[in-house]
Amino acid sequence: MKKILVTGSNGQIGVELVQHLRKIYGSDNVVATARKKVAGPVSESGPFAFLDARDGKAVGELLDSWKIDTVIHLAGILSARGEADPQLAWDTNMNGLYTMLEAARPRKCAFFFPSSIAAFGPGTPTKNTPQDTIQRPSTIYGVTKVAGELLCDYYHLKYGLDTRGLRFPGLISYSAPPGGGTTDYAVHIYYEAAATGRYTSYIGKGSFMDMMYMPDALDAVARLMEADPSKLRHRSAFNISAMSFDPEGIAASIRKVIPKFELSYKVDPVRQAIADSWPDSLDCSAAKEEWGFAPRYDLDAMTRDMLERVSKP
Ligand code: SER
Repeated sequence: MKKILVTGSNGQIGVELVQHLRKIYGSDNVVATARKKVAGPVSESGPFAFLDARDGKAVGELLDSWKIDTVIHLAGILSARGEADPQLAWDTNMNGLYTMLEAARPRKCAFFFPSSIAAFGPGTPTKNTPQDTIQRPSTIYGVTKVAGELLCDYYHLKYGLDTRGLRFPGLISYSAPPGGGTTDYAVHIYYEAAATGRYTSYIGKGSFMDMMYMPDALDAVARLMEADPSKLRHRSAFNISAMSFDPEGIAASIRKVIPKFELSYKVDPVRQAIADSWPDSLDCSAAKEEWGFAPRYDLDAMTRDMLERVSKP
């Protein structure tokens, strides 16, 4: 990676990944793009351009003018928002991906695609979910993620494009809020714990999902994109996860720092159904073997760091 273009730069991952990549590759070599300009480091600490990923002409012009060799395509709509507007989710996630791949193809750009635990469904084995297994998701978001994995694999097979991707679990971070996901409760809970000492969860007791702290996700993207291609058997969709917990598990971890923390429940049927259709815990051995995936944060280490960060005025 030398000249990198990132879409969806104002999103939960984008805000931090742009800064992470600028530190490694130099500020001028990471072009942040989004449909809106937001004041802050993404638009102010290096090149920024307006971009709708579905606009192929604009994408091509940007790739040429910045001599981009790597595309990190993050722009997309998450699971819960997707269920509220499936047509918008399909248009943004699929037409955006197709347009970006088509622009990357003649220019031979390396290409990163963020898949998700949502690419699995109710028929998938829930415990230690294998790398290669049943994928019949029941959300439009999951449908776009499976189709995206397959499309990226196809561009590699057919055109030799260097496509790579990760199945992200729920990501926990403090720089930018997640928008419209099912795993978002695991971010909100820290803000509420620090501010009020209590949280009402929309996800029920006993619903386990895979999760990861953002610094480990950033490291995973950079590592995967720099990995020796001859070692990659699973290109576009590596299972990755650093921990699996339910609301009681994260509450117990928070109580080690805030002993009086109180957790109550008001379950949202839409997001609960989504959570129920996803795995409880992923098998990440392919990512470890093929490119050295090595997350550093477990639940308690993440809790200590998150509570310290979100408590700062
Ligand atoms: N965090 C995402 C969501 O909840 C999963 O990819 O939609």
